[in-house]
Amino acid sequence: MTQRRVGILGLGAYLPEKVLSNHDLEKMVDTSDEWIRTRTGIRERRIAQEGTPTSELAKRASLEAIDAAGLKPTDIDLIILATVTPDMTFPSTACIVQDKIGAKCPAFDISAACSGFPYALALAQGMILSGAYKHILVIGAEVISGFINWKDRSTCILFGDGAGAAVLGEVQDGHGILATYLGSDGAQANLLKIPAGGSAIPPSPASVEAGLHYVHMDGSEVFKSAVRIMCDSIIEVAKRADLKVEDIDCLIPHQANLRILNAVSDRTGIPLEKIFINLDRYGNMSAASTPVALYEAVKSGRVKKNSNIVLVAFGSGLTWAACTIRW
Ligand code: UT7
Repeated sequence: MTQRRVGILGLGAYLPEKVLSNHDLEKMVDTSDEWIRTRTGIRERRIAQEGTPTSELAKRASLEAIDAAGLKPTDIDLIILATVTPDMTFPSTACIVQDKIGAKCPAFDISAACSGFPYALALAQGMILSGAYKHILVIGAEVISGFINWKDRSTCILFGDGAGAAVLGEVQDGHGILATYLGSDGAQANLLKIPAGGSAIPPSPASVEAGLHYVHMDGSEVFKSAVRIMCDSIIEVAKRADLKVEDIDCLIPHQANLRILNAVSDRTGIPLEKIFINLDRYGNMSAASTPVALYEAVKSGRVKKNSNIVLVAFGSGLTWAACTIRW
């Protein structure tokens, strides 16, 4: 009897039209295109129109993914949305997306920051294999521009808005998710956070005055952990799938910094040509980075039928997650 497997039936992505280039940022803070390019690899990022919530980007990516899967919104029986920039504290953004796309199913958000999409894939895989659900819509979506201090050059150059979505269901012939690997380390929670707005520091005039509603990050500490975590996660998730690192045809990493990806390439021996990179055009889109990269890797032909791919992400929490898929 062949093993039951869960795979991706359709993908979608949505990027806001507005482009914010490094040259635009030069006019806003004390930075330069040269510094941003050489220290991060980023050239430009997309920014949602003011007043456009995360659910709107998620809706567009989701409708494309459902259509690509050959399904209708009413065929979706569960929605899992990964974000750190929900429309509101509650209700969940997943519920708002459910209504916007015309689905009739349970829906909830998960919070695993930049690792949110592969975390949600692992969750969806288990729920389909349990027999409880058939078609699960998994979304990674962010409008992080609203939580950035545009006067802080150490963070504002890094991030962008976007959304990616995938429909998961059972697949045949040895394709689909081969292995997943999740991790977190709450002892490093302080490295990357939005301090206020939750129950620890409820929003108040004082918290806004202190800028505690913005993204705060210890960049160099996150950088060091990121390289180690990404390498360990790739090796572990390949091993769990009974693959050697050389068997990976395409690595789809979280898109935070080109220097992180260069270090991952050096340490794992995965050549840069096998690593899909789009951070030059979008920056770090948190939970949207891996699904948008996967979408573009498939569309561009970098991922083909039977390709062994590894998605790998790390982020605030700290969290990390990886997933091996035979396409
Ligand atoms: O999604 C997961 C989360 N995030 C990440 O993965 C981010 C990981 N970290 C990074 O990507 C890098 O640490 C950064 C890109 C954030 C920063 O690069 P760095 O090489 O670690 O720079 P640094 O923070 O050590 O700063 C070096 C210098 C400092 O000046 P001094 O003190 O040496 O005079 C900064 O003030 O660069 C300065 N600097 C800038 N200069 C021009 C910091 N940001 C900028 C800027 N433009 N935008």
